[in-house]
Amino acid sequence: MNLPALLDQIHTEAQALYGKGRVADYIPALGEVAPRQFGMAVALVNGGMHTVGDAQVPFSLQSITKLFTFVIALKLMGEELWQRVGREPSGAAFNSIVQLETENGIPRNPFINAGALVITDILTSRYAHLDYALLGALRRLADEPNLHWNPRVARSERETAHRNMAMAYFMKSHGNFQNEPELVLDNYCRQCATEMSCAQLAQATLFLANGGRDLALDGQPDELFLSAEQTRRVNALLLTCGAYDAAGDFAYRIGLPVKTGVGGGIVAVVPEVGTVAVWAPELDAKGNSVLGAFALERLVQLTGWGHTTL
Ligand code: DON
Repeated sequence: MNLPALLDQIHTEAQALYGKGRVADYIPALGEVAPRQFGMAVALVNGGMHTVGDAQVPFSLQSITKLFTFVIALKLMGEELWQRVGREPSGAAFNSIVQLETENGIPRNPFINAGALVITDILTSRYAHLDYALLGALRRLADEPNLHWNPRVARSERETAHRNMAMAYFMKSHGNFQNEPELVLDNYCRQCATEMSCAQLAQATLFLANGGRDLALDGQPDELFLSAEQTRRVNALLLTCGAYDAAGDFAYRIGLPVKTGVGGGIVAVVPEVGTVAVWAPELDAKGNSVLGAFALERLVQLTGWGHTTL
């Protein structure tokens, strides 16, 4: 299989979709991102990496960070975590508040905003500086010491985070929030403002394709970051809940565990094969990257990836 040629082909095809989506602007600083950008990176468990387009340009991870904070919380708490958050698809928008009332302040899953806020609350209780805990894990996984969060994007989201704040207070009224919502929101907005390139993101996620083993790039043996059992469970959640109310459509079109973000990034896991990170800022109505979803769909069609692993 000639992956570089396939990525070139997908890059060319994807550009026909420029203008079909809109850059997120409910977080004002995200609205300033140039819309017509596209990057894609494939990291393979055998150590190979292939990239095309703007794959080295850092972008705002946004909800993709929820994958990593969830993994850190799962490592900390194991199955006890499920007392604070569910593991069912919500079928509702990522920032919907409506189910929280009927479900007593327990969010449906760790990837919708309400669920991610609970996870950030858990990590805020454990770490003085959640952003450092998250960046520490990402630096190790991506083998990249220079990762950071963008203070301008964090401030812009923090100043407009009224809905997330409302959900945090609502969950606190149900006893499902330990810290002050203001403090957790500070951490959450920094977390979401973390920036990585497609190449770094694909590398950082590779443990999910590799039975939980973190692929060491320095020639040292791989280390276990997450147990094989927990890795399987994380991938199941990404498949069912990683694209919010578009999770069914993503499973139909792509059929792989994915996590999307309103920065326009998507990361996908091909168990035993590798990971794919794609970034294009124009989003569809559900907040998922238009070109990103197209590129992943074309990649699985052209490679057959996922057809035998699920
Ligand atoms: O909380 C928010 O609304 C954003 N920081 C993240 C939302 C997001 O990325 C949803 N993904 N499609």
